[in-house]
Amino acid sequence: MAIQLGDTAPNFTAATTEGMIDLHEYLGNGWGVLFSHPADFTPVCTTELGAVAKLRDEFAKQNTKVIAVSVDPLESHQRWANDIEEVTGARLNFPLIADPELTVANLYGMIHPNASSTMTVRSVFVIGPDKKVKLMLTYPAATGRDFQEILRALHSLQLTAKHQVATPADWREGEDVIITAAVSNEDAAVRFPGYTTIKPYLRTTVQPV
Ligand code: BEZ
Repeated sequence: MAIQLGDTAPNFTAATTEGMIDLHEYLGNGWGVLFSHPADFTPVCTTELGAVAKLRDEFAKQNTKVIAVSVDPLESHQRWANDIEEVTGARLNFPLIADPELTVANLYGMIHPNASSTMTVRSVFVIGPDKKVKLMLTYPAATGRDFQEILRALHSLQLTAKHQVATPADWREGEDVIITAAVSNEDAAVRFPGYTTIKPYLRTTVQPV
């Protein structure tokens, strides 16, 4: 059955450009982003891996490790890493899983046969410290992802895991948030003093820390 939000992220051990990795051990007590690439030496993937390498420290500030998977062998990944650096100016600085048997790809449902039977789609799984899947995205091969959006969503996931708030459309870190329906008006007055009521079901407050 397809992985759904709230499921435990399936664990695996795999060869990567940074050695053998057990996913759950690698993530430890932090957050993780596991994302797939259709194939090595492809143009969109090359730009994406460079983009994530440049953002790795931003993910680390969010206590988040990134790990990518591509269905080619390790030796291919190692040669491709040189191209990624040459093209994007960023050295691969996070593990890239070698998945020639499609083990990880099948475990996570990253092969969508009606799109391609051999290459993965562009999947993203955000995994929480409890190893549960918190967010999933699926893009087709020809559409590169916006990794700033993944960072933005990560801010929201971490905030809403800590406080009884939700984030509105187009929310950015530091902007006002929505108080969830689970918080009574009496509790909201104590926990979010000065909150605003736009509608009885839409109450906003400054972003809690
Ligand atoms: C790419 O990464 O550019 C790509 C990969 C597979 C199909 C189409 C594009």
